[in-house]
Amino acid sequence: MRSMDCTGLPYIVEPMWLRDIKEVMEIEQVSFLSPWSARAYRHELLENDLSHYFVVRQRQVERPGPGPLTRVRRSLGVGKRLPILGYGGFWLMAGEAHISTIAVQPTWRRKGIGELLLAAMLDRAIELEAEMATLEVRASNVVAQNLYHKYGFQQAGSRRRYYRDNDEDALIMSTERLTSATFQSRFQALKRALRERLIQSLDKML
Ligand SMILES: CC(C)(COP(=O)(O)OP(=O)(O)OC[C@H]1O[C@@H](n2cnc3c(N)ncnc32)[C@H](O)[C@@H]1OP(=O)(O)O)[C@@H](O)C(=O)NCCC(=O)NCCS
Repeated sequence: MRSMDCTGLPYIVEPMWLRDIKEVMEIEQVSFLSPWSARAYRHELLENDLSHYFVVRQRQVERPGPGPLTRVRRSLGVGKRLPILGYGGFWLMAGEAHISTIAVQPTWRRKGIGELLLAAMLDRAIELEAEMATLEVRASNVVAQNLYHKYGFQQAGSRRRYYRDNDEDALIMSTERLTSATFQSRFQALKRALRERLIQSLDKML
């Protein structure tokens, strides 16, 4: 089993740090009916031992022929941090990776970033020996359900009027065993296809 390798891709997935919360909140507030607070994210990062949170940033695009100063800055790792485009997290509980959130900045949607985040989280969950992945999603959130279906999540139940803000039902979605041959062959094929798609999109950015 191989982790999502971001080498050569236009985006990079990194662990979320406290300094990222301000940017995460900007996306959170335009993505959810009842956004989490910055305090909730601080709690997740500082106090919740079960949590694993990630952000996606655009990678600095390497244009040909940088001047000597640019080369020195790059070799020292000095440079502007590019903005966060999306984030996601899961809790590892009793052998299950429970995806707690995932969101992409609205103008960056439909470019494969949601998939990249989900694939990276599933990879990390597999590394941590999670047996399966699970989540709750609003019954009306067909976009997110499509993403989860694509990655092998199936509806495993529902919770009536789970969301207090509009009394909406939650669908519970789960994968099969993450190490099963069927899950793995689908997952590895999806990651290869995603990689191809993201590499092609890099050409348009150059
Ligand atoms: C759900 C979300 C994270 C998807 O991010 P994204 O970067 O736009 O998704 P991707 O471009 O990686 O798309 C992956 C798959 O998601 C589904 N999908 C994404 N956008 C879709 C749309 N507008 N309509 C239908 N399906 C869509 C498709 O299955 C797509 O695969 P495809 O490209 O082969 O059709 C994003 O829409 C979002 O932030 N939504 C608001 C927050 C939210 O609802 N989070 C989920 C909480 S449970």
